[in-house]
Amino acid sequence: MNVLTESRLPLPLLRKGKVREVYQAGPEHLLLVASDRVSAFDVVMREAIPRKGAVLTQISAFWFERLAGVMPSHYVTARTAAIIEWLDQNRLVPNPGELRAQLAGRTMLVRRTEPIQFECVVRGYLAGSAWKEYQESGTLAGEPLPAGLTESARLESPIFSPATKAESGHDINVTFDAVARALGQEQAARLRDATFAIYRAGRDHAAKQGIIIADTKFEFGVDPAGTLRLIDEVLTPDSSRFWPADQYHPGRSQPSFDKQPLRDWLAEIKRRGLWNGEAPPPTLTPEVIAETSARYLEAFRRITGHSLAEDA
Ligand SMILES: Nc1ncnc2c1ncn2[C@@H]1O[C@H](COP(=O)(O)OP(=O)(O)O)[C@@H](O)[C@H]1O
Ligand SMILES: [Mg+2]
Repeated sequence: MNVLTESRLPLPLLRKGKVREVYQAGPEHLLLVASDRVSAFDVVMREAIPRKGAVLTQISAFWFERLAGVMPSHYVTARTAAIIEWLDQNRLVPNPGELRAQLAGRTMLVRRTEPIQFECVVRGYLAGSAWKEYQESGTLAGEPLPAGLTESARLESPIFSPATKAESGHDINVTFDAVARALGQEQAARLRDATFAIYRAGRDHAAKQGIIIADTKFEFGVDPAGTLRLIDEVLTPDSSRFWPADQYHPGRSQPSFDKQPLRDWLAEIKRRGLWNGEAPPPTLTPEVIAETSARYLEAFRRITGHSLAEDA
């Protein structure tokens, strides 16, 4: 099994994120390579989760194709053979075929854009930092919500709750007005409307497959022709809260579709006093690695309706 904790491509590395490496691929394109790294409780584990990178990349590819009519995106292709051919034709690396094992399934060729400096978060349920804000002030993204909502409650209608992109640490939630002041009313409204449209389409599809997309984060960028495009990853378990619909019970936090086995295992290690919750993380057992990998593959199967191909 071809597991990868970090890619090394002979292309200029623009950024190494928590999970992905971003390479420049000629003047107008990027290669986004999703590794198999996994984080939980804000700590990146040492061990990789087999197939996780391919699952994330291929779920994004599925949505970019499916949502093309809802919003233009940066997506070009996530087919490994097509990417290798493209690298070859553009003479960007000497022997792109040699990179096949590293790229396999986990890589997306995208158009480069100028990213908008806000994360467009949309919430259909009251969880995480939104639940925290509501408990403290009865608001979400600065707007008042009805009284008496419980944790994980489904919201009447989804709420746009943008955040600034923090270089390190947690993103900071801001109001719609703050986005409008920074980008202009018109652009802010476009971002908000696109966010709702993409979320609704994704949520409705996932609901039919037994997955609640409780909230999610989109990123947008502007291409050289001035077109606003959906960029980054989209509606993946890493950018969203995926909840198993058959276990949904408001009034408490919900199990995570993908990371619950890992979180439960870590919580138990912590409870036994074997880990303080900070880096360095404990060494994951083969069982918890396999269980987590199976969850990601199941998320892929549910969302797309088919299993992840061995060579994807
Ligand atoms: N089409 C694009 N054009 C420009 N930047 C992009 C594009 N798609 C994604 N990005 C950027 O690439 C980076 C991906 O890094 P990622 O691994 O997600 O890092 P992080 O740990 O910050 O989430 C993000 O900074 C994102 O804004
Ligand atoms: Mg990211």
